[in-house]
Amino acid sequence: MNQPRLYTELARWWPLFSGPAEYEEEAPEVLELLLRASPLPAREVLELGSGGGSLSSHFKPHFRMTLSDLSNDMLAVSRELNPEWEHVQGDMRTLDLGRQFQRVLIHDAIMYLTSPDAVRAAIANAARHLSPGGAVVIFPDCVRENFTAGTEHDGADAPDGRGLRWLEWRWDPEPSDDTFVTAYSFLFREPDGTLSVELDRHEEGLFSRDQWVSWLGEAGLEPSRCSDSWRADVFVGLKR
Ligand SMILES: C[S@@+](CC[C@H](N)C(=O)[O-])C[C@H]1O[C@@H](n2cnc3c(N)ncnc32)[C@H](O)[C@@H]1O
Repeated sequence: MNQPRLYTELARWWPLFSGPAEYEEEAPEVLELLLRASPLPAREVLELGSGGGSLSSHFKPHFRMTLSDLSNDMLAVSRELNPEWEHVQGDMRTLDLGRQFQRVLIHDAIMYLTSPDAVRAAIANAARHLSPGGAVVIFPDCVRENFTAGTEHDGADAPDGRGLRWLEWRWDPEPSDDTFVTAYSFLFREPDGTLSVELDRHEEGLFSRDQWVSWLGEAGLEPSRCSDSWRADVFVGLKR
């Protein structure tokens, strides 16, 4: 599987692209949805596609987490930030930890599954990792019904003098298929002032609300849909 450069050779820049501060406002809402997804208390939580662990770093007072990601480079970034948690390399479709959790979290990483079969496999795998009474909570950035093309830009500076400025450009080249494209242009500044520019193209999945809900049902989970301030659609699957 061809991984985006942002998650491999450029991963050391992740804390400047999307560090813990980026998730400061969103994290309490994600926490709330995780906690109320099931009456079963959340003690052990598995995140599939945890990336640099920026979001999860906000959950330390609330439960123990196991963080997993496809990219060893992103796991290295997360280990720095979250040394107290177990980190495991693996694809969210096939990872097998051989144990169960009260909650499984799949946040923005779900966007990198670009076919119905891939999403079905990830949901089935999340279901396998849930204790009876547990729940998976999935936060796609968008669904087919509310995808919008657009551009964003931002950046940050590190205390060591490194800096990053980036431009994101999203569009859907073929509205009849299941994917859209997000392209990035990164301008990096090293502590000695050296500049470099890199481009990265990400292919992301785009599915309808009905597809999400039916795939949760197919995995034997009781599906429901809710929302938070960032996402109109958060999908919950409860394991009875
Ligand atoms: C946007 S980043 C996640 C950032 C994370 N929310 C954070 O707070 O740092 C998306 C992550 O999804 C991971 N990913 C993509 N496809 C995956 C797959 N099939 N299984 C597991 N992880 C995957 C990438 O390696 C990347 O680290």
